[in-house]
Amino acid sequence: MIVVDNLVKTYPGAGGAGEVAALRGVSLNIPDGEIFGVVGPSGSGKSTLLRCLNLLEKPTSGRILLGGDDLSTFSGADLRSARRRIGTVFQQFNLLHSRTVLRNIELPLELAGLGKDERRTRASSLIDLVGLSGKEKSYPSQLSGGQQQRVGIARALAAEPEVLLCDEATSALDPDTTDQVLDLVAEVNRTLGVTVVVITHELGVLRRICTSAARLEAGRIAETGRITDLIASPDSALGAAMLPVGDDPSLGSTADTAVVTAIGDAAHGPWLSQMIRDADADIAVVGGRVEQVGDVTVGRMRLRFTAETDHARVEQFVDRHPHLTLSWGAGTELEGLTE
Ligand SMILES: Nc1ncnc2c1ncn2[C@@H]1O[C@H](COP(=O)(O)OP(=O)(O)O)[C@@H](O)[C@H]1O
Ligand SMILES: [Mg+2]
Repeated sequence: MIVVDNLVKTYPGAGGAGEVAALRGVSLNIPDGEIFGVVGPSGSGKSTLLRCLNLLEKPTSGRILLGGDDLSTFSGADLRSARRRIGTVFQQFNLLHSRTVLRNIELPLELAGLGKDERRTRASSLIDLVGLSGKEKSYPSQLSGGQQQRVGIARALAAEPEVLLCDEATSALDPDTTDQVLDLVAEVNRTLGVTVVVITHELGVLRRICTSAARLEAGRIAETGRITDLIASPDSALGAAMLPVGDDPSLGSTADTAVVTAIGDAAHGPWLSQMIRDADADIAVVGGRVEQVGDVTVGRMRLRFTAETDHARVEQFVDRHPHLTLSWGAGTELEGLTE
């Protein structure tokens, strides 16, 4: 379990400018084995939170607990060994170009003082795990971006950390490579049981691999929850943004439109025809999609009701179906996040 407790980070202002409050009291509980996403627009404090989590930066105040140990109090040798409990994967890979794949992965083990044989054995098995067998002797410049990031992931895992932190780890990769690297992260999470914290401004990353997420806004947690709960919640701006349904302004007033979300088996069920009968409503479908979110199917439709529709009857129908949620109107927009 990672517990972030009222974390504050204030940077001194440069050139006479005022202080910058990068984190203004962030609290999070991340259970073991989760893939936890942190999203937010540029400047919201994502990288600062990550640098506090991997102990590169000292918080101004607040605590970070890993397995009950308060990491923010450590210094010297304790701090160095605490850092090994957390592996980091960087956006720009940060590989040493003068070292082969194998020796890049061995680096953290050299620093930890492991003998050559043990380093080799562990690095070799990580090369298999990340799908780079045969590339042991290659140099980073001979690899594609996706392959370089696989080396980055293997290196981050070398010291057998409890937590894998990914800082915009796929932002430099094309969409197909991004999906492959994300799938590798999910596989590592499953097979090694390592807790993963993914920092990103991309909502597609949340949909593909995360179990829970938090949204940062100006140094604070604006909302947090399980991915499927956020998507089902009519009040979640993040949930709406993760699975947008197209809106056509030419259709006029939004007062008669609603977004209905169906989670799990209900996504494939005949809820729409039942709603039409049950609420005696005439309905046009003006947008919609069915997506796999993690291992759950989610259907979302934007519906337009005729003026005669009794909204209360539509709501009563939705209330009787626990896997359906409804939100009237156009919903909220989130700035600064991308698909
Ligand atoms: N080393 C630093 N010194 C001063 N201000 C910083 C420093 N790092 C980040 N900031 C400021 O803190 C805020 C949050 O930045 P950051 O954590 O990088 O956000 P994000 O990763 O979400 O873009 C921004 O206003 C940024 O300018
Ligand atoms: Mg950043």
